[in-house]
Amino acid sequence: METSYMINNKKINIIHLETVDSTNTYAKHLASQNHPEGTIVIADHQTNGRGRLGRSFFSPKDTGIYMSVILKPDISCDKVLYITTAAAVSVATAIEKLTGSDTKIKWVNDVYMQNKKVCGILTEGHISDTGSSMDYAILGIGINISEPESGFPDDIKNIATAIINGKNTHIKENLIYEILNIFFDFYKNIKAKPHLDDYRKRSLIDGEDINIIRCNKVVDTGTCLGIDDDFSLIVKTSSGISHISSGEVSVRIK
Ligand code: BTN
Repeated sequence: METSYMINNKKINIIHLETVDSTNTYAKHLASQNHPEGTIVIADHQTNGRGRLGRSFFSPKDTGIYMSVILKPDISCDKVLYITTAAAVSVATAIEKLTGSDTKIKWVNDVYMQNKKVCGILTEGHISDTGSSMDYAILGIGINISEPESGFPDDIKNIATAIINGKNTHIKENLIYEILNIFFDFYKNIKAKPHLDDYRKRSLIDGEDINIIRCNKVVDTGTCLGIDDDFSLIVKTSSGISHISSGEVSVRIK
């Protein structure tokens, strides 16, 4: 089913699917066939939901939001974090507005409630033939709305949570609307990074001792000093100050 809306002066075309392997993969296919910016794929269930760093994203039927937005941003590929971080602030703000609970952002793409992950974001850019600009980007957002009846699987049960207890049929639609409304406000002026201060304020790991992880291995440790002007993480390590723009970090258990 396909429905059109105007959200924040932006024409939005929502394609709703019951089941798909991955809304990001589906949206990528549409973008490669020239579907316009603002096309949004939403599924009730994903059979192969994808996360960052080649991981999977648990996407059971009806208990989450799984959506991907086609964007044609006027920024170079090295600025793709602007989009991921704008989406993270949009999700965090929308959840707070609808639930009244505090949210935090764990660099770079995870939204947390009560110290557990409720949302992950995967932005995939497609580079133009000239190699510098982006033809399109797919912004994928996955949110745990409620815990499935059988619970979260063992590998994530200690780190994942959901935004509500039980069922609330309206929260999904309202949350999608709020997220898109906030996101497209930032996106109008994305080059100016209108969400930078808000992203910094929400950082979960400022001041924390962290592990720096590459290819699933801890390659260094340090203290998180904050977020720089390009959304990289500023870390004090034994060899000096590093600015980390990719990979992942974890908080060290004291
Ligand atoms: C992460 O936590 O590493 C990112 C998870 C991103 C999941 C979303 S769900 C909608 C979209 N489709 C996908 O296959 N992945 C993203």
